[in-house]
Amino acid sequence: MAVLNIVKVGAPVLREIAEPVTRFDKKLEKTLKNMAESMYANNGCGLAAPQIGLSKRMVVIDAGDGAGIREFVNPVLSDFKGEAVDVEGCLSVDEYEGEVKRAAEVTVTFQDRKGEKWRLDAKGLLARALQHECDHLDGILFIDKALSLTPKRKAE
Ligand code: NI
Repeated sequence: MAVLNIVKVGAPVLREIAEPVTRFDKKLEKTLKNMAESMYANNGCGLAAPQIGLSKRMVVIDAGDGAGIREFVNPVLSDFKGEAVDVEGCLSVDEYEGEVKRAAEVTVTFQDRKGEKWRLDAKGLLARALQHECDHLDGILFIDKALSLTPKRKAE
């Protein structure tokens, strides 16, 4: 496995509509593992493939709920319910964090690394992370939606 460079705001790949994943092979498995390792190395709770310069529809999330790393390939969100405002940051945005309004609950349909289809109802941080990471797949960053932006505290 390898810790990959995180692409920062300003890079065109972060503004592209990512392509669906069609090959469920060893390479995909390796990429997902590298994404997870890169996310943990940077103390993130989610990472989308465009953030490693790969314009493909896949994200990894660890919402700190004890489930560990979750992989979502070709995720599609639906059934947005409620509203919640909370502070978000992004590994591609070094300077700011900010409050973003998201749905409080969301349903995600997705594939796993083998191509098998799943459906999951999410709330709390997982719901927020899914919305943040799926935005990345459509070229959207949280700074586009933030109600307020404040300078990020330096990581200790
Ligand atoms: Ni992000």
